[in-house]
Amino acid sequence: MRLGVLVSGRGSNLEAVLAAVADGRLPGIEPRIVISNRPGVHALAVAERHGVPTRVLSRSVMPDPGARDGAIGQALAEAGCEIALLAGYDRLLRAPYFAAFDGETINIHPSLLPRHGGRGMVGLAVHAAVLAAGDAETGVSIHRVSADLDAGPLLAQVRVPVRADDDPESLARRVLTVEHAFLVETLGRLGREGLLEGASASMTGAPSVTDASGESVKGP
Ligand code: GRF
Repeated sequence: MRLGVLVSGRGSNLEAVLAAVADGRLPGIEPRIVISNRPGVHALAVAERHGVPTRVLSRSVMPDPGARDGAIGQALAEAGCEIALLAGYDRLLRAPYFAAFDGETINIHPSLLPRHGGRGMVGLAVHAAVLAAGDAETGVSIHRVSADLDAGPLLAQVRVPVRADDDPESLARRVLTVEHAFLVETLGRLGREGLLEGASASMTGAPSVTDASGESVKGP
């Protein structure tokens, strides 16, 4: 499955995916392009280190947001991508993106969507919101992307317990570690089965995993 990855910053999820590809742990996944909406970010260095072609389509390169999103979709299409992964991509994708790229687009988000998703729910804000709400658990969601922020159908979730002594930073660190493993696991399933929806998720050692129907398929 030919993969494009959209990034905006650190690129630790991108690193997890490209390291797994390099190790032969994702035989069905072929990274074709990494596209950033911000120049000079660490994620671009990660892509270059792994020999994956990069593009920067930033506001300064292309000020019109619709035209920029269309160009991102077109770059994915031209690279022959079948699927696009938003791995820390920090902008909403508008209709011209979906018009230019008709492959699957998926996003990884560090909470149990629909809890703590949507506008402003990025970085530490997500984990601060989990703690402020007094949630006993949080997690990671991988979902299809539509034009609505954090609103496409859920494909897979994994749960992460919240500890009494957690602060946003400690929770963010623990969730991020789970993200890396869960993303690789989920992409592996995608590469093998070609289709995520309706397939059961599993992750060794994970407290629990739910599938798209919300049914628990793996207990503690
Ligand atoms: C991750 O927590 C991801 O779930 C969210 O943004 C963060 C990106 O981190 N969408 P990184 O750039 O992959 O390190």
